[in-house]
Amino acid sequence: MRRLIPTGVTSRPVEFAQDTQPAPAPDEVLIKIEAFSPNRGETFLLEAPEPGLMPGKDVAGLVVQAAADGSGPPAGSRVVGHPPMGGWAEYAAVPTHSIAVLPDALATVQAAALPLAGITALRLLRTVGAVTGRRVLLTGASGGVGHYLTEFAAAARAEVTAVTATAERGARLRELGAAAAVTVSGPFRLYWDALPPPVQDLLIQRAGGEETARRFAGQVDLSTLAPQITCPLLVVDGGQDVIPGVTNGEPLARLAPHGHYLYLPHGDHLLGNARPDWLAAAADWISGALA
Ligand SMILES: NC(=O)c1ccc[n+]([C@@H]2O[C@H](COP(=O)([O-])OP(=O)(O)OC[C@H]3O[C@@H](n4cnc5c(N)ncnc54)[C@H](OP(=O)(O)O)[C@@H]3O)[C@@H](O)[C@H]2O)c1
Repeated sequence: MRRLIPTGVTSRPVEFAQDTQPAPAPDEVLIKIEAFSPNRGETFLLEAPEPGLMPGKDVAGLVVQAAADGSGPPAGSRVVGHPPMGGWAEYAAVPTHSIAVLPDALATVQAAALPLAGITALRLLRTVGAVTGRRVLLTGASGGVGHYLTEFAAAARAEVTAVTATAERGARLRELGAAAAVTVSGPFRLYWDALPPPVQDLLIQRAGGEETARRFAGQVDLSTLAPQITCPLLVVDGGQDVIPGVTNGEPLARLAPHGHYLYLPHGDHLLGNARPDWLAAAADWISGALA
C-alpha cells in the first residue's frame, strides 16, 4: 500500500512510499482510508521529522477488518478515527476506543476533519463546565478549534462572543451561533497596486504566487458582507495602523446594521501598543451588547 512519509525537505515535506499493510492488534480495526485531514500539530513535526515519524491522526473510511477481540463495529462500517499516528496512508490500524461509526448524513471528507480539533474543543468546554445561559468569550475563535467551540457552546445555549482578526474570518462563526463579534485592526478593502512591496511580497508568499495573491486582494472587500452582519459588531482601529492600499474598518462599522466603531489615534498595527485602552472597553461593550 502507499503511505505519505516525511522527507525533511521544506518545499516538499511528504512523499509517497510503499509500505506493508498494518497488522491490527486485537483491539484494533483495519480501516481503508478514504479521507484524512492534516493538523497543524503534525505539520510542525514535519519541519524536523523524528526518524520513523508516520503522520496521520485524523482519518475516515471503511472498516475492512473488525477487531479480533470483538470490540468495535463490524467490517463494512463507515467510521471516523483518531489513531495515534500513521493515518496518511491507504490503510490504518485504529484502536476501537478511538473510532466512531458515521451517520449517513455526514460525508466521509467532512468527518476526517473532526477528531483532533473537535476533541480539543469538546474537552475545553468540559473543563469550563456547564455554559448554558452563560456568556462565553472566545479568542482565536476563527481557528479550527474555535469554530468547533463556537458551535458546541452555541448548541449548549451559551451566549458566544467570538474575537477574530477580521469580520470575514468571523462570518462562519456568526452562522454557527456567535451572538456578538469584535474585530481588531482588520482590513475592509485591499487595492493591490497601492500596497507597498513588502506587503505584496508577504501576500505572494502566503498565497503561493502573484496571480493568486492579486486575486485574493481583489476579493477582500466587505461592502457586500457588512450589511449582512446582523449581530452586534465592534470594530477597533488604530490611527497609526496606516498601510497604503488598505482601507481600515470604519466603513465596516458604518455599514453593519449594529456596527460600532472604536478608534484609537495612537494605536498601531493590531493595537498591541494600546491594549489597556481598547481591551477593557471591548469587554464592557460586549457586556452591554449581550445584556
Ligand atoms: N487543532 C487542534 O487539533 C489542536 C489540538 C490541541 C491544541 N490545539 C491548540 O489550540 C489552539 C488553537 O488551535 P487551532 O488549530 O484552532 O489554531 P488555528 O486554526 O491556527 O487558529 C488560531 C487562531 O488564533 C488567532 N490568533 C493567532 N494569533 C493570535 C494572537 N496573537 N492573538 C489572538 N489571536 C490570535 C487566529 O485568528 P485571527 O486571525 O482571527 O486572530 C487564528 O485563527 C492552539 O494553541 C493549538 O496549539 C489545537
